[in-house]
Amino acid sequence: MRPLTYTGAKHLIPVANKPVIFYSIEAVAQAGIRELGIVVSPHREEEFKLALGDGSRWGLKISYILQHQPKGLAHAVSCAREFVGREPFLVYLGDNLLENGVADFVREFERGNANASIVLVEVEDPRSFGVAQLKDGQIIKVIEKPKDPPSNLAIVGVYLFDEKIFEAIREIKPSWRDELEITDAIQRLIDKGYRVTPHLARGWWKDVGKPDDMLHANRLLLERITTQIEGELDNHSQITGRVQIAPRAKIKNSELRGPLVIGEGAVIEDSFIGPFTAIGPRVTIRHSEIEYSIVMEGSHIDGIGRIDHSLIGRNVAISKKDRRPEALSFVLADNSQIKLI
Ligand code: G1P
Repeated sequence: MRPLTYTGAKHLIPVANKPVIFYSIEAVAQAGIRELGIVVSPHREEEFKLALGDGSRWGLKISYILQHQPKGLAHAVSCAREFVGREPFLVYLGDNLLENGVADFVREFERGNANASIVLVEVEDPRSFGVAQLKDGQIIKVIEKPKDPPSNLAIVGVYLFDEKIFEAIREIKPSWRDELEITDAIQRLIDKGYRVTPHLARGWWKDVGKPDDMLHANRLLLERITTQIEGELDNHSQITGRVQIAPRAKIKNSELRGPLVIGEGAVIEDSFIGPFTAIGPRVTIRHSEIEYSIVMEGSHIDGIGRIDHSLIGRNVAISKKDRRPEALSFVLADNSQIKLI
């Protein structure tokens, strides 16, 4: 996600005009969980506090737990030991999006007597994830990013544990990437004879590790919006498909083809906005065409023939004097400036 992550956390990048981590927090709240500890590195702490606050807007109580070194997910979990005490708990990696949330997963765990439970999704190529091998519906093995996967069942970044996990984390060694892997800790639980159960997720799952994933997640989330027009639309503009236009946004002499969202105070003038596009608050788009893209808060685009498949940071300016059409594709960090002459 560089260079975007030089100026901000990946988890705070907006998809469908809402930071990625908001979807995880909503899923946690929806599952009936009321206390949330965010494990964060010290240099990101303020940024997360500013974005998430004390959690009251979700009916949650948020605490911030510092992880001083990036020593892996199992290490991050061990940082939360004092916070969770002796209660069972949910671990949710804030860059994972699940179509149907985690409420069913949590209910199932509460009803059963497992020491841990993991969510699995069948994927075409699981080599970049943790992978689980099942036999007669039971997990016999979990392995992190295997070159030769024993199944197509990827491990989703959502886990339920009781306090036995802390014992397992103490007993594992760092992996080839020098991290304490949560997958290795889960394997340790299995080896010790503890009960680890699988939960097969229904619906889509997206782990947003790369710009393409962000754009795909944006698409998946925009697929389910309903039309809501609160901003202004002049008589020369035309809308097809489902479109959300936030208050104080202005659409002038433009065509909007949904599904798409336009943020508060954005201005779209003499332009075409195509499907699966999220235009952030206070963005201006003039004399341009854009689709399948995310444009973040405060950016300005003027006179660009066509932008497709692009992820554009905050306060970016892109302008072009000569208006001949052409196709351009960008991954731009915050405060970028591009002038095509
Ligand atoms: C982590 C886990 C992996 C899991 C993935 C899901 O990978 O280690 O087992 O499948 O999250 O998002 P990482 O994002 O650390 O590469």
